Amino acid sequence: MSATGSTAAITPPKVAARKGGTPLVCLTAYTTPVARLVDPHCDIVLVGDSVGMVLHGLPSTLGVTLDMMIMHGQAVRRGLSRALMVVDLPFGSYEEGPAQAFRSAARVMAETGAAAVKLEGGATMAETIRFLAGRGIPVMAHVGLTPQAVNAFGGYAVQGRGAAGEQVLADARAVADAGAFAVVLEKVPDGLARGISEQVTVPTIGIGASAACDGQILVVDDMLGMFTDFRPKFVKRYASLGEDAAAAIAAYAEDVRARRFPAAEHVFGDEPGPARKTAI
Ligand code: KIV
Repeated sequence: MSATGSTAAITPPKVAARKGGTPLVCLTAYTTPVARLVDPHCDIVLVGDSVGMVLHGLPSTLGVTLDMMIMHGQAVRRGLSRALMVVDLPFGSYEEGPAQAFRSAARVMAETGAAAVKLEGGATMAETIRFLAGRGIPVMAHVGLTPQAVNAFGGYAVQGRGAAGEQVLADARAVADAGAFAVVLEKVPDGLARGISEQVTVPTIGIGASAACDGQILVVDDMLGMFTDFRPKFVKRYASLGEDAAAAIAAYAEDVRARRFPAAEHVFGDEPGPARKTAI
């Protein structure tokens, strides 16, 4: 595998062909070890700009830079052999127009080996999506709640309730018509997501949307329960790693203070012991 050549067994056309089929399994990853864990189970691994909030402690995704996305994309690439890697274009790296978006996307693909990029926005981004898709850059679109527009929305509320659903449907149609190979629907009502999934021709990937979507995505740290104080309704927790980690760290601290760690099996004698499996 080279930095510029994707080895993904799953390609954007294969994702597009899954419309109406077995649901697409998608998770985020930001590091090599997590990429290795998710790769055997996922169709798409998204290097999301959520990395800013999840790993860097930023208050929103707005402070995430193209360099950050490229660094995490390179790390994730090293852990994947099967899943399609999609990298988010961060805030400020594509909204000026098609040429800026092309430069950013080309850098991401050349420097990380990603086979596709994701960008946020509906009808207003259609021209940019058409430009990229027509020049060899597969685009995953993202409509509904688009976190990079948190200030315009005034928060992270559900989008598309009532009459506002028409705009979300128009956005999903516009990005599909422009050539996006899939579209993320974030935090929209179940009925709306169901209707959009029936009406657009490319797979819909839901997050806080509907089981009727053509696939689902979650932030991996959320579904692993890394955060004890963040429990949004749309996340199902499959583990409690945050609580487990806190308990393990507390036990380590107690052991160190009580001189229970290191124990005899963790220290070295004057004579070499039996051969070890690890080099450390
Ligand atoms: O940045 C991200 O992780 C995302 C997904 C949650 C859709 O955009």
